[in-house]
Amino acid sequence: MTLQIKTLEEYHNAYRRSIESPEAFWAEQASTFYWRQPWHTVLKNDFITPDIQWFMGGKLNITENCLDRHIAERGDQTAILWEANDPGSPSVTYTYRQLLAAVNQCANALKERGIGKGDRVCFYMPMVPEVAIAMLACARIGAIHSVVFAGFSANALAELIKDSACRMVICSDFNARGSKNTPVKSVVDEAISLGCDSVESVLVLKTGEEKVAFNPALDIWWHDAVAHQPDTCTAEIMDAEDMLFILYTSGSTGKPKGVVHTCGGYMVYTCFSFRNVFQYRDGDVFWCTADVGWITGHSYSLYGPLLSGAITLFFEGTPTFPDSGRFWQVIEKHKVTQFYTAPTAIRALMASGHDEPDKYDLSSLKVIGSVGEPINEEAWHWYENKVGRGKAPIVDTWWQTETGGILITPLPHITDTKPCFASYPLPGVQPCLVDPAGNEIHENGIEGLLCLKFPWPSILRTTYGDHERCRLNYFAAFEGKYFTGDGCRRDEDGRYRIIGRVDDVINVSGHRIGTAEVENAINQHSVVVESAVVGYPHDIKGQGIYAYVITQHPVTDEEHFRNEVLMVVTKEIGAIAKPDKIQIVSGLPKTRSGKIMRRILRKIACGESDGLGDISTLLNPEIVDELKSGVLV
Ligand code: WTA
Repeated sequence: MTLQIKTLEEYHNAYRRSIESPEAFWAEQASTFYWRQPWHTVLKNDFITPDIQWFMGGKLNITENCLDRHIAERGDQTAILWEANDPGSPSVTYTYRQLLAAVNQCANALKERGIGKGDRVCFYMPMVPEVAIAMLACARIGAIHSVVFAGFSANALAELIKDSACRMVICSDFNARGSKNTPVKSVVDEAISLGCDSVESVLVLKTGEEKVAFNPALDIWWHDAVAHQPDTCTAEIMDAEDMLFILYTSGSTGKPKGVVHTCGGYMVYTCFSFRNVFQYRDGDVFWCTADVGWITGHSYSLYGPLLSGAITLFFEGTPTFPDSGRFWQVIEKHKVTQFYTAPTAIRALMASGHDEPDKYDLSSLKVIGSVGEPINEEAWHWYENKVGRGKAPIVDTWWQTETGGILITPLPHITDTKPCFASYPLPGVQPCLVDPAGNEIHENGIEGLLCLKFPWPSILRTTYGDHERCRLNYFAAFEGKYFTGDGCRRDEDGRYRIIGRVDDVINVSGHRIGTAEVENAINQHSVVVESAVVGYPHDIKGQGIYAYVITQHPVTDEEHFRNEVLMVVTKEIGAIAKPDKIQIVSGLPKTRSGKIMRRILRKIACGESDGLGDISTLLNPEIVDELKSGVLV
């Protein structure tokens, strides 16, 4: 197993070594895995092109490291512990041995359908054990999974299937979450009908008795395809830099981009970060509440824990079903030791059940984590007091889809914690702050743009099908640095506090939403001429979506119009991108060159219209008063 830091001194030593000789440091970590062939060169570091490669020439299969490697020592130990949406359903467990067999069976089924190395497979699944099984089955045979969060619409799903020309889609019939049981197969059917010609088969998991439309030319039931397969399957030997998966995420411009992670570096870093950030010890029960449709689910529900031989809890449901004690009930039931969730869930639970955690035995908890968005001070203290109870420290972990794993975080019981601070970089991570001109800021007690100066093993390698977009997005803003898109503060002692996105990305309940995507969706409405979308502070979601919309003609029934706009956005992207507020306006503030002044729109939406600054350079300064007087509070 990779190094597990246990003391502050060990952290300082590891950090120093990782900076002085990164290649030796990471080679040491990598050597603790099972490789089919060792690497010849540890690192190719080109932050300009960019061309980043780790463990070059190394051959491996990540599933042999997640599964086979553990059989001798912990074959009968639980690997996945599954808790259903319905609290009355029994929990399901897979031991490492059972999981390996299930993965092999699924892998054989995929092979039978013609899926092999390099093929892309799209997932549109609920949080059930089969999603983990099928992702690992892909990895087993060298196929590339592209998991799409099952809340995205058919239109959005179709775009992503087409972008990476997926040959197969794996889905369920229904998705049970909270009191709803959403038909998801029908969303896949609709997506495929939108011109997804690359799809040759759809593997459908049956979760209930209700019938769904079934097209025998394309569809195949999971139980028909998988159950009879042999439970052994030789792992495909992969190059360290072969693609492991694609995960789409929103940026400030255009459509979502497919972030690409590769086998070797991702394996080393997710295991290393998991073991250190959560201080996982044998027998602990780790629970990350993220859906596997997001990077957090990939790295810390699935790969990080399994690579470490851990017990990982998968939860199908929601924090508030059947009531706001559900998380605490699951922690009590399974004696969860590490709990990892998002500030939006913490805020929602704090609002709906302030003293609810008191009713449960949470004494098993050793570490509690936060991820996905800035956590506000009130939520931080509530989480620490009510859930951590002075015993389990908070790890406020900062990272991104593109970073593959956690980069900045406290280490529990090792480094100190400070409300709202992600604190210190993990070994191998070299953060820096730059000013808008790109000059590195060396002093402390200052704010700047967060960059990384040196690659770590799980940094993204490219954006699928468009390497230039990867360069422009992350490596072109500041030469020789990876730019995160986040603004950040560094305190006098060198701790980092993430402030939030400085680009046109809104973080809604920890989900990244590109303003351009929402605008494009709104503009599909037949009477909309133009729209502009900005974020504003929202008590529960962190940020809400505020849309300014220009219509062709005055709308008589505003409520009806707003509902139509919400429907269009739901259809184009999904319910998670629905604007919270829609202000109908006659114009948008523009510069003389026709550029929308988002800064002004943001200030007005945030209720800060007194501090708009100089607006005299606008093409249409008179519009500002109209926007201010109509602002929705
Ligand atoms: C934000 C999620 C503050 C940040 C793992 C980042 C955070 C974006 C934190 C990435 C945190 C993530 N504190 N902000 N602890 N963690 N963020 O790709 O703006 O879904 O750039 O990855 O979430 O979101 P993503």
